[in-house]
Amino acid sequence: MTNFDIVPNRRNPNSLNKWMWYPKDVLPMWVADMDFPAPKPILNTLHKAVDQGVLGYELPSKALKETVAARMDRLYGWKVKPEAVVAVTGIVSGFSVAARIACTPKKGVLLQTPVYNEFHEVKTNLGIPQLDAPFIKHVDGNILSYEIDWVIFEKQVKKAGMFLLCNPHNPLGIIFSRKDLLRMAEICIKNNVLIVSDEIHSELLLDGNKFSPLAKLSSEIAKHTITLIAPSKTFNVPGLFCGFAIIPEKDLRARYEKEVGNLRLHVSSMGLFAAQTAFSGQCEGWLADLRRYLTANRDFLVEYVTEYMPEVRLTIPEATYLGWLDFSQTKIKGSPYEFFLKNAKVALSEGRLFGREGEGHVRLNFGTSRKLLTLGLDRMRKALRSL
Ligand SMILES: Cc1ncc(COP(=O)(O)O)c(C=O)c1O
Repeated sequence: MTNFDIVPNRRNPNSLNKWMWYPKDVLPMWVADMDFPAPKPILNTLHKAVDQGVLGYELPSKALKETVAARMDRLYGWKVKPEAVVAVTGIVSGFSVAARIACTPKKGVLLQTPVYNEFHEVKTNLGIPQLDAPFIKHVDGNILSYEIDWVIFEKQVKKAGMFLLCNPHNPLGIIFSRKDLLRMAEICIKNNVLIVSDEIHSELLLDGNKFSPLAKLSSEIAKHTITLIAPSKTFNVPGLFCGFAIIPEKDLRARYEKEVGNLRLHVSSMGLFAAQTAFSGQCEGWLADLRRYLTANRDFLVEYVTEYMPEVRLTIPEATYLGWLDFSQTKIKGSPYEFFLKNAKVALSEGRLFGREGEGHVRLNFGTSRKLLTLGLDRMRKALRSL
């Protein structure tokens, strides 16, 4: 069993990570990386590369593409040709490249909000319209759930060149049902909209939940879809910046690869080495332990908030290590992010960054030890009680 109760110290004056961003007395529960070391096989691979001594250029090998394709088959029974796999310098670069080939000043990017803050940067970086299709929010007791508003989705898709899907969803933790995925895909195809499915969180499944890639639903859907995956979130190696775009359709892939080439988006050697080990099946025991630990942390978070901060609403994420908390019914005036930073010395992610609907909300990263999660929640509870 991996011991996730042990959290290495990342406070290093020469580094600028989430532990160094705020003053020392602030507990960081924001950026989406975990406080745990990566699995041993990945670390061994990286040690070996360093010990060999030459840190030269590396290209994505045939073996690596085969490993990625084999993982899709093993996990989901999804048959992907190795040549359909394109290495990218992370998933944000991956969807930014897709937007460059699919969007224009007249055909924008469709998002389901609230959603991962970097999705909102695509419009700014490319000078294209952003089309929001906000979810319908439901409240049951203090538990939040979200549902697709099909009327607005169908309306917005007409003005889009690309639909950027987040599945599992950051920050809501939803794994979309097969029925919803089929319906979204059908609407996009009917309207000639490219589907880009960001599945970076697809292996961070809680409760033994299952996941299946959107593109696996049918060969027609696969033809219109770019699937983005990475070992980065799952195995906690996001700083190595290596991800993959899976593009079964040849012409679409050629256009995508051309743009990647034009931008000179070369993946670092360490990222490629780590991905090979991560996806080869050597870290599955570690991953099973991680899922159990994160599921227990998720349960602890939900129970803690329900018992000690009952006026706070929150989701029960099905995947990811991200909680979504709604403080709009509490006495906090203004941004809860600012309130907790000042009064609890806890740094959360500002809900407003995820879209207009995020006002009064924060995202909380529970990819940490139970001890630090408890410390953060205790501080938040105390600050709330002082109002
Ligand atoms: C949905 C989603 N996509 C992409 C990323 C970041 O990907 P990368 O660091 O590989 O660009 C994140 C990180 O939080 C994420 O949540």
